[in-house]
Amino acid sequence: MHKKFWNNQVTDHNITSTLQMNRNDFPILNETVYNKPLIYLDNAATTQKPQAVIDALTYAYSHCNANIHRGVHRLSQVATERHEAARKHVAQFIGAASAKEIIFTKGTTASSNTLAWSLGEWKKSDENTAIDNHFLQPGDEIIVSALEHHSNIVPWQMLCERKYLQLRVAPLKDDLTLDIHAFEALLTPKTKLVSMAHVSNVLGIRQPIEQVIALAHKAGALVCVDAAQSAPHIRLNVLDLDCDFLVFSAHKMYAPTGLGVLYGKEKWLEQLPPAQGGGEMIEHVRWEKTTYNTLPYKFEAGTPNYIGSYVFGEALTYIEKIGLDAIEQHEAGLCQQIEKVLREGNYSGCTVKIYAEGQPKAGAVSFNVYNPQGKLIHPFDIGTLLDRQGVAVRTGHHCAEPLIDHLGVQGTVRASVAIYNDESDIQAFKKALEKACAMLG
Ligand code: ALA
Repeated sequence: MHKKFWNNQVTDHNITSTLQMNRNDFPILNETVYNKPLIYLDNAATTQKPQAVIDALTYAYSHCNANIHRGVHRLSQVATERHEAARKHVAQFIGAASAKEIIFTKGTTASSNTLAWSLGEWKKSDENTAIDNHFLQPGDEIIVSALEHHSNIVPWQMLCERKYLQLRVAPLKDDLTLDIHAFEALLTPKTKLVSMAHVSNVLGIRQPIEQVIALAHKAGALVCVDAAQSAPHIRLNVLDLDCDFLVFSAHKMYAPTGLGVLYGKEKWLEQLPPAQGGGEMIEHVRWEKTTYNTLPYKFEAGTPNYIGSYVFGEALTYIEKIGLDAIEQHEAGLCQQIEKVLREGNYSGCTVKIYAEGQPKAGAVSFNVYNPQGKLIHPFDIGTLLDRQGVAVRTGHHCAEPLIDHLGVQGTVRASVAIYNDESDIQAFKKALEKACAMLG
């Protein structure tokens, strides 16, 4: 394979990024779409995979595939070692105190649902001494923000229905950032959990998560951070954040689909009941009473995705070689470039509305286009015309309908970036959008 290393130089708005990586590591970027070079700007939905990750997947199935934690045979031991090494790697990557705090799941959504179920069944003291000692009592409250992804809304709504709780929504200010004072005012002794996105999947902006965590803890509430859109772009440290739980997906971090992480402080995970029963999560199974395995296995019923975990470890190594700080700077610079071309392009009399314009963004920029008469051009139409020119973006509600309702539109067009994108992608996007506007304006 051709190995041309190059630097992405991002100089707009005083941002200088020097990202050492090889675009040719990603074979799919050489694909064409409708005979046009693929310009992939849908990275918030999923990232493309480097050859090292694709090779690791083939290697795992070719050389070390056996069910883990079960076999005395060598192959099973090797597969087990790789799975557990990946768990340690993830713990180091997010700054967790122990690998026991890393639960492998199917993805962010599965992590949130697992947590919601366990919190709902959590009895805080000896279950034999009190009938009504659940952590969550009817009338208790959970707070989310107005910009959450459905996976950080619906599991909590379902929990609220099951346990007769109230879901409170912290509002946004006019600039679409969290209204931290309104959030603080929602915190009461009834608040048991705050669950918030670190970075909005629609707007790309960061929540003031450190403040949210400090205020929630002061009020006695636990905090879950939805890091699905921050883990790929920002260096995370759960100890510094002091969050109680944190969830994210591997497939948005250059790894395969079907693997995610639920991080939890050991002191909570020790007490929380398992959400699923089956093999692996038990200590002893007896007809009278089954006892559960130690952490983290208590939460991993059934055969885990041990191939996925091993490959995720390789993806993390790939990310670490480039460096999270360089990645953050590079991608923030690309988002600024996207905003710049949206402001400065020649859009045939159409007006481009950028959401949360001018605010620093980690990975994604959302916008809409209005025709010269001021009528919204449907985001699907923009997305379709961009696609015909090889440019892949996401359009619609982005699994965040309440936010889209708040914006008062049918959806947005979202361009989202990753390590392999560069200025030429942003220029191709601009050209394609100018053409789309010339046709629709
Ligand atoms: N959550 C992913 C997105 O925002 C799928 O596109």
